[in-house]
Amino acid sequence: MELFEVLRRRRSIRRFQEKAVPREIIEKLLEAAFLSPSSYNKRPWHFIVVDDRELLKKLSKAKLGASGLATASVAIVVTADESRSDVWIEDASIAAEHIQLAAVALGLGSFWIQIRNRMHDEEKTAEEYVRDLLNIPKNYRVLCIIGIGYPAEKKRPHGKDIFEWEKVSYNRFGEHFKD
Ligand SMILES: Cc1cc2nc3c(=O)[nH]c(=O)nc-3n(C[C@H](O)[C@H](O)[C@H](O)COP(=O)(O)O)c2cc1C
Repeated sequence: MELFEVLRRRRSIRRFQEKAVPREIIEKLLEAAFLSPSSYNKRPWHFIVVDDRELLKKLSKAKLGASGLATASVAIVVTADESRSDVWIEDASIAAEHIQLAAVALGLGSFWIQIRNRMHDEEKTAEEYVRDLLNIPKNYRVLCIIGIGYPAEKKRPHGKDIFEWEKVSYNRFGEHFKD
């Protein structure tokens, strides 16, 4: 699929068919992540592939807005070693988006579940909840979880209406680039 076709078709899919994602397809998603750029080429990320149904159900309770994980075939938890890079958030975000774009190209749907800076409940952060559940070491920060599977909902690809030309300046802030 051509790159712009992939970009248009990437929509957040939160309901999935009960069909497993083959191992070689999951490996392709990870290859896409490994193709990401990173600051100083430090590559601070670590990915956790979760397909255990009980764990997926527990992850779906990490916070509000994660419930779609209960029907996902697989989740990739995106973490990074903050002691290795001061810009691990940027590095891990790009890798997460590579996974989402590769998912489209491979006929899958996916959605991003924000974990960093989100709460599980009044006392516990979503990050602590995921860390405890998956035995993630302290120096690894949890950015997000990408829920993945064969879509059980159809969404229109994005159209030109999403282009926000008013948010683009030319040479100086506030000067129109395009009318
Ligand atoms: C940083 C970030 C955090 C997000 N967090 C969540 C989330 O926790 N739960 C969720 O269902 N979707 C989440 N999303 C998906 C957005 O809601 C979605 O991308 C947005 O509504 C646009 O829709 P689209 O992805 O179909 O274009 C997140 C997306 C980003 C980039």
